[in-house]
Amino acid sequence: MQIHILTLFPQLFQSPLSTGILKRAKDRQLVGINIRNIRDYTHDKHHTVDDSPYGGGAGMVLKPEPIFEAVEAITADIRSAEESNTVPIILLTPQGRLFSQQIALELSEYSHLVLICGHYEGVDERVREHLATDEISIGDYVLSGGELAAMVVADAVVRLVPGVLGSAASPIDESHTTGLLEHPQYTRPPEYRGWAVPDVLLSGNHSHIAQWHREQAIIRTLQRRPELFKKASLSLEERQLLNKAKTNLRERQSLDKTKPSLEGR
Ligand code: 6GU
Repeated sequence: MQIHILTLFPQLFQSPLSTGILKRAKDRQLVGINIRNIRDYTHDKHHTVDDSPYGGGAGMVLKPEPIFEAVEAITADIRSAEESNTVPIILLTPQGRLFSQQIALELSEYSHLVLICGHYEGVDERVREHLATDEISIGDYVLSGGELAAMVVADAVVRLVPGVLGSAASPIDESHTTGLLEHPQYTRPPEYRGWAVPDVLLSGNHSHIAQWHREQAIIRTLQRRPELFKKASLSLEERQLLNKAKTNLRERQSLDKTKPSLEGR
């Protein structure tokens, strides 16, 4: 997969792309990250990338021409015409659809992605209307630019590209992949400062361990993100575990009236 990132601040991308899984994916040529400076696609002496908004108002707006030209330079480089037509052109903006593991999974199937990092007060509307094929936000808060959001999207997508993680199975149980949060994890030592690792994990009984993992994922999701159950698809066994966990939690809460109530969940 090739990820093309258009930005006014290419230097921001240096360190996150040169460590960990992203670096390994690049070194193994599973993923290429191509950073382009929007300013390189200007033609005037001052390399102007922004201008004041028509109709007045505070701040500056990114001009359309350098962004269109940068995207067109990328799609022209992608050999097959058919392929370049189906490349997602994604504008990172707080007004976009909310990013999720599901969207990361969908994007990981493409051979190319173009990510446009917005800046200043905004981007000329013609970029959204006539160039971008998708708009993504990473959450309900405002960042000073799309760069951090582009890194979040690139990281979440790259680790789903086949071969990038050590074992192909490793993303399957993760938080959000199953629709639930992941079970707690422990490593050595078996006892630390008097806190013991749950016995079942040391038992070597793989079916008991698997059962414990499912149970803990359900308890954890119920305690922290109960709204995730609306979308998760649970097996009959998991439904039963959920009902049991709800009953247990209610019993504990009726002993401790200071904790938030489960009513209405
Ligand atoms: Cl994609 N951009 C900016 N500037 N702020 C954001 C965002 C994106 N997603 C959440 N906040």
